[in-house]
Amino acid sequence: MTDFSNKVTLITGGACGLGRLIAQKMAAKGSRVVLWDIAEESLANTASEISAAGHQVTTYYCDVSDRETVYDLAEKVKKEVGKVDIVINNAGVVCGRPFLECKDEQLERTLRVNVLAHFWTVKAFLPDMIRTNSGHIVTVASAGGIVGSAGLVDYAASKFAAFGFDEALRAELKKQRLNIHTTVVCPYFIRGEMFAGVRTRFSFLLPILDPEKVSERIVKAIALKKQRLIMPPLVYTTWPLRLLPVSIFDKVATFLGINDAMDEFQGRRS
Ligand SMILES: NC(=O)c1ccc[n+]([C@@H]2O[C@H](COP(=O)([O-])OP(=O)(O)OC[C@H]3O[C@@H](n4cnc5c(N)ncnc54)[C@H](OP(=O)(O)O)[C@@H]3O)[C@@H](O)[C@H]2O)c1
Repeated sequence: MTDFSNKVTLITGGACGLGRLIAQKMAAKGSRVVLWDIAEESLANTASEISAAGHQVTTYYCDVSDRETVYDLAEKVKKEVGKVDIVINNAGVVCGRPFLECKDEQLERTLRVNVLAHFWTVKAFLPDMIRTNSGHIVTVASAGGIVGSAGLVDYAASKFAAFGFDEALRAELKKQRLNIHTTVVCPYFIRGEMFAGVRTRFSFLLPILDPEKVSERIVKAIALKKQRLIMPPLVYTTWPLRLLPVSIFDKVATFLGINDAMDEFQGRRS
């Protein structure tokens, strides 16, 4: 397993939810963590928790959808903290409404945060990884990046893009024979604020996932340089199911309840 001591891990959306838990676990395994987020109060709280546990943490207020901010802050991080070894593109947003009820600004925001931000962070940190021929880029996508469902048009579009981003980037890095790894993470719904209110029809097949377990598996996947982490296992069946006629694929998806999952979505109250 990779030793994370002397490594620097940058986590976007690291103040809350999954990002916070990943940060705590990476820090506990010896990595110095750098957190970027727009949730200022949570950023300060998470940093206090990590430093109180005796680990190294640095935080920056950063809207990852703003390209110039990402480039400027990346330079600041390199000067103040050092070379970033692991980038975890985790910040994410969702509109959570049927497509025509989503405001244009919300649709744009989903794409800017869930996709374009990955371009800017990787453009900012990959050159150093190439120079040292080492590094790891983690893309937190979603099961919504493997199968689209009702109420998640903006989100699925952005997560399919994130999935493709990881796959194409991995191909480029391999083609250049670089020792830089990528991991794409595709969980089904996770208990927490982002998807508060969602429901599942068959919890034994498609459980609402435990954030602690998901974050543990992400850290383990990074340590093992696993290229793809999908959970729960049923999500894998999407690919063979696509060999069936679309009408049957759609019926299976609807039977599993995924097109009703967002009916009582509340999301973040803040
Ligand atoms: N939760 C799930 O069920 C689930 C399932 C599959 C995949 N995922 C993915 O997992 C990742 C983390 O999700 P989560 O549940 O931990 O979400 P979360 O609890 O909402 O945390 C996301 C964090 O990102 C921050 N953020 C939002 N926009 C940002 C921006 N422009 N710049 C910087 N930070 C920003 C949020 O700040 P604010 O609170 O101020 O918005 C929040 O602190 C996301 O990519 C999500 O799509 C989540």
